[in-house]
Order: sequence, then C-alpha cells, then structure tokens
Amino acid sequence: MAQASQSGSVDLRGMFAPQAVAVVGASRSPGKIGYSILKNIIDSGYRGAVYPINPREEEILGRRAFPSLASCPGPVDLAVVAVPTAAVPAVIDDCGVHGVRHLVVITAGYKEVGKEGLAREKDLLAMVRRYGMKMLGPNCLGLIDTHTPLNASFAAGFPLKGEIAFLSQSGAVFAAILDWSLSVGLGFSKFVSLGNKAELTEVDFIREAAADGYSKVILCYVEDVVDGQAFMNTVAGIGSKTPIVILKAGASQAGARAASSHTGALAGSDVAYDVAFRQAGVLRARTMEELFDLAIAFTTQPLPAGDRVAIVTNSGGPGIIATDAVEARGMKMAELARETVERLRQGLPPTASFYNPVDVIGDADDRRYDFAFSQVLADPGVDSVLCMLTRPAVIDPLLVARAIIVRRREHPAKPVVAAFLGGDTVTAATRELIAAGIPCFNFPERAVTALSGLARFQAFNGRAPRTAKPITIEDVDRERAGAILRRVREDRRTVLLSDESAELMQTYGIPVVPSGLAAGSEQALAFAEQFGYPVALKIVSPQILHKTDFGGVRLNLKTPSEVTDAFFDIIDSARRYQPRAAIHGVEVQKMMRPGIELIVGVSKDVHFGSLLMFGLGGIYVNLLKDVSFRLASRATWEEIEAMVSETKAYALLRGYRGKPPADVDAVIDVLGRVAALVQEFPSIAELDINPLFAYERGEGVCALDVKVTLND
Ligand code: ACO
Repeated sequence: MAQASQSGSVDLRGMFAPQAVAVVGASRSPGKIGYSILKNIIDSGYRGAVYPINPREEEILGRRAFPSLASCPGPVDLAVVAVPTAAVPAVIDDCGVHGVRHLVVITAGYKEVGKEGLAREKDLLAMVRRYGMKMLGPNCLGLIDTHTPLNASFAAGFPLKGEIAFLSQSGAVFAAILDWSLSVGLGFSKFVSLGNKAELTEVDFIREAAADGYSKVILCYVEDVVDGQAFMNTVAGIGSKTPIVILKAGASQAGARAASSHTGALAGSDVAYDVAFRQAGVLRARTMEELFDLAIAFTTQPLPAGDRVAIVTNSGGPGIIATDAVEARGMKMAELARETVERLRQGLPPTASFYNPVDVIGDADDRRYDFAFSQVLADPGVDSVLCMLTRPAVIDPLLVARAIIVRRREHPAKPVVAAFLGGDTVTAATRELIAAGIPCFNFPERAVTALSGLARFQAFNGRAPRTAKPITIEDVDRERAGAILRRVREDRRTVLLSDESAELMQTYGIPVVPSGLAAGSEQALAFAEQFGYPVALKIVSPQILHKTDFGGVRLNLKTPSEVTDAFFDIIDSARRYQPRAAIHGVEVQKMMRPGIELIVGVSKDVHFGSLLMFGLGGIYVNLLKDVSFRLASRATWEEIEAMVSETKAYALLRGYRGKPPADVDAVIDVLGRVAALVQEFPSIAELDINPLFAYERGEGVCALDVKVTLND
C-alpha cells in the first residue's frame, strides 16, 4: 500500500509489488487489451491475488471474474483500468470507494486528443486526487517489475530480470525497447510507460526506482519534464548515488518566446534542459543507442578513479578514431608509466607502438594481445581500458576475448570495454565478452561513449555534495529595488527605462556607469561637469527602443558646447522620428575607458525558471556564442566560478598574450548579485548587462548597458 515516506514523498511499492491486482475491463477476447493485460499478469508469475473485473463474465483465463470491485473477496492495491473512455469515471469512483490506492489507467482519449480530452483529463485527475489515489497514465501501456514479478502492461513480452529501470513517455519506445532487449539478452528491473503523466510523473518513478534496492541505473525517455523545480529537488539528490541517464527529445514550444534580449536568444529551452540535467548530475544521452550503451556500462562496470583512458589495438586507424573520440568526449588519453613502456618495448615487436594507443600490430596473436593488455591494465596511471580488435587472418578473436576476460579479473576495480570491429567473424567473441560482463561494441565511438558516461558520473559523484541554497547577499536595498519594479508595473510597462535599470543594478551593488536623466540642456551640462568629460547622451523614451536607429545616441562629447548641441539634436530627431513618443529626457553617461567586454544575462525557462548566462559580450555576442549557463535557483558561488571558467572569455580574463589579468572576483560577484536579484524578484523575465566592462585586477567592473524586462 502507498505510504508517505519520511521525506513526504509517496512510496510506490504498492504499485510495483501489490498484494492484489484487479484488471478492470478484463476480457475473454484474445484481441483485446483487457485480455492481454490479464494474460501478462498471470504469465509473469505474479504471486498475489488477481481479480478480473467484467460485468458479464464469471471466469477469464482460468480466474474467477467479478462484476465490480465491490464484489472482490479481498482488498485491491492496484487497479489496471482498460475500459472505454466513457466508462472510466465510474470505474475510478468505484476504485476510490473501495480503497484502491494505485491506478494504472491504460485508456486513451485524454489530453493527447485535444481540448475536450484535456478537460476529461482534468476531471479524472481531480477525482483521483479526491480519493488520494496514485495514478500512472492515462494513455499508457502499463508497468512491469521483473523482481516482483509483475507485468501489468499489454506489451508483447516480459523482459529479462536485470538492474536497469526504464521509464518511457512513449508507449511505442517502451514496446520497441522491450522487444529489442529480448533479442540482445539485456535485463531490466522496471519498465514504466509514463503516458500522459497526469498525476505521477517521471520524478516519482525515478525516486521509486532509486529506492527499490535493485535498480542500478535509471533510464528515461522523455519529451518534457512536467515540473522543473520538483525534478531538480528530487533528482539532484539521487543523481549522485544512482546514475540517471535521460534521452530528452523534442524542443519545447512552450519554452519558445520572442527573444527581446541576447540572453533570451541564446538560451533556447533545450539549453535549460542541458543545464538542469548537468546541475542535477543527470547524464544526457543524445541517441537511443547511447542511452542503452551507458546503461550496459553502468550495470557491468565499476566506476573509474578518473578519466584517463588507455587503448590496446591491433590496427592504427581504429586506434586513431578511438583516440579522437576520447578527446571529443572530454576524457584524456592516459600517459603510460616509463616502466610500462619499457616492458612493452621488450615484449612487443619493434614495429609495435609502445605508447597509448598501444598498437600490437596486425600480425599479433592472442598471447601478444594478452601481454599488452595485462601491462596496460596494471599501469597505475590508467583509469579504464578499451580493447580494440579488427580481424586479420592470423588472429582468433575468441582467444583474444578469453584472454581479456581472464586478465581483467586481476584488476576488477578498473572498467574495461571492448570494440571488436567486423561482422560474423567477431560475433562469437563479442558474445563471450558480453556474457562475461565486458561490454563489447561494434564501433569504437560507442565503446568510448560508454566509458565517458562512467567517468562523467564519477566526476559528479566525487564532488562535494551540492548545496541547493540560493546565494544571498546582504548589502542590497530590496525595498528600493521593489519600489522601482512596482513603479514600472503601475506605469503598465514591462521594459525598464535605462535609468530605472541602472538604479535597479545599484540597489544590488552592481557597479554601473555614472549617469543621470536630464530634462533640459542645463541639467545635461551639470551632469557632464559632475562626471567629467567625455560623456555620451542617449534619448530616454518608453516608445523608442532602438535608439541608435535615428541618431538617438551621441558618443564621446568632449566640451560643454558639444553636449548642448547634442542635447537639442537628439530631442529634435526623436520628435521627427516618433512625434507621439513620450520623451522623458536625455540620459547623460560618462564615457568609460574600455575593459574586456562581457555579458551577464538572465532569461526565463517555463520549466526550470531563471537561467543565468555569462560570456563574451559586445555586439558579436550572438555570433560568437561564447556563453555558459546555470539555473539561477541552484547557482552557488562554486557553480558561478565554474560557469566563468568554462568560457573562452576566461582566457582573456586571466590575462591573454601578456595582458594583465582582469578582476575575475568582481565578475563573479556581479553574477552572484544578479542571481540573487532574479531569485528575490521572480517578476524579472529577462535581463542583459551588455557590455559589462571588466578592468584589471582590483579595479572592478562596470555595467555599460542594462536591459530589464518584466513578465507580461
Ligand atoms: N467495468 C468492467 N468491465 C467493463 C466496463 C466496466 N465499467 N465497461 C466495459 N467493460 C468491459 C467490456 O465488457 C469489455 O469486455 P468484453 O470483451 O468481455 O466485452 C472490456 O471491458 C473492454 O471493453 P471494450 O468496450 O471492448 O473496449 P476495448 O477493449 O475495445 O477498448 C480500451 C478499451 C483498450 C481501454 C480503449 O478504450 C483504449 O483506450 N485504447 C487505446 C489504449 C492505448 O493505446 N493506450 C496507450 C498506449 S501507449 C501507446 O501509445 C502505444
């Protein structure tokens, strides 16, 4: 039965290991879904009570049938519902009244069919919630647990027992993977068809699989994440203990919006998924093949101590391809110890390569292969090994496979994978390796991808526990910041004027270029005297967003007369350009000496909230795309340092080609303050500081141009 766990989350054991299951809509007709589900439950060897529910039948598949839940002889933990859409509400009501805690609703005809279906789904959810039940679906294929065992689905087959939990938003992917897994002998712990995710979502099933005690790796195929915050809160804790690999397909249209800022243009919704997965320690697979290659690696191999890979090969070309793949996937080619190289030199022919990749060359037999592999595996500077083989006539792949199997036992703590290239001639050897728990692929890139998954997970696992605590900054003026935003709202605007944006930055301690809003030329002159020449003048009007288009910006004004002339020129051309525009005045800005041009920005993702961006700024920002992202809600100082150091801009900040290093601490400080600002004021939809000038170490930074947009 479902119980609230200590963390307040729901325990779904009653769904995967129920004492009694009812199949509502069970049928005697072999072509019907209600028949398949009942047959699957019985055939899976399920040991609990099974109650077929059918208004007309007395017996189905050798089991006594009941006309309703009320007539069942005992309590029901799980009801699998496969009745037509119109009959579902009455069935759910019946389940609720008779204390059923878990539902699998197979029936289709809900939000996937449009507006009417969506309304039906809302009613269904309300009913389920009213009774406090937990529901998988609707519009799903069902669920499977091989350890219970229970096959409460209408899939054609029952997977082999194993340690991979697989959750799929697509029923077709669920069915196809199950079928494929049987042909390759891959075992699973759970199979869940998520359906419309109306009540239980991927987050609930990830949590359940992580806690079941037998799932070693969790794989998901999803098209969206229902609740980004719940996902981060739950999955970030699990992802450091149980590997979670997600294949996320489809760019979310809900996330698309008119990008009024650079940050918005650069941060598509897929970027948000990438960032969220990374921050939660989830590995993102790009293809279905990668999803399962990683699963195989996680269920058969130990985690490596680091990312140094050694390759043993009997041919040069594939060795180079694998080397490229190692580097492309962010790992390193191990540097073999001098002693290892020396031993290889003595034991291998002179034409062999004694350095990584170690090439035992084309005429190698299994003994030479065995010798090289054992030396490389024993090297303390090697964290994992890839054994590659192409098949010339002189070698028996089966003997090489056996040598690898025997040798790898001497170093069980290091991952070993293989890539045996070829067709029928390597099939038997490949099978033998796989049966011995050594993943063997037909191409080198797949083998390297599998190793890189292990290394990435280890890197995440090895780091200090993540703190989800948002950055808080003391020396800020929240009240004034709130007042600025309220004023903009009262004015029925969503875009802040430049003087408002600058003031907002100041309330959060972000240095901005000295500026003032001048209503007349006298005031403009006074500001210029106060800031010191040269100065820039810019029109301020809510209706004029692209100020440069008509001469609304004048730079580098060096004398009082230049300032006065520019003031009147700007006002005149603004009036000609947009006669109805409300002109608030002219902003006078000190011309700053140039620094390294950076961008700091924020955009909002519908699923995961504010995304913080950092990178190389200026007018080429969209062209260069040298940017990195983090979720503002999970930005720690550590994450911010990492996001700065990930960019090419970091090389400039550290002092490029003899230039002095810049004030990186001040840059990091601005990012932290922006993260705090948007967390404390969620009405901020987008924010761009571009450029942010970074000066030499100790001389700080200065925001030159700031754009802030509020939610509609
Ligand atoms: N209580 C108990 N039994 C009932 C009730 C009820 N209230 N109402 C009807 N039944 C019985 C029927 O008598 C019938 O049994 P019978 O064969 O003995 O007459 C049985 O339930 C099924 O009812 P049918 O009217 O025959 O409905 P059918 O089996 O054709 O369809 C189904 C029902 C399968 C739920 C259908 O409505 C449906 O939704 N199909 C799509 C399912 C789907 O695709 N899900 C998503 C999968 S994921 C993917 O994309 C691959």
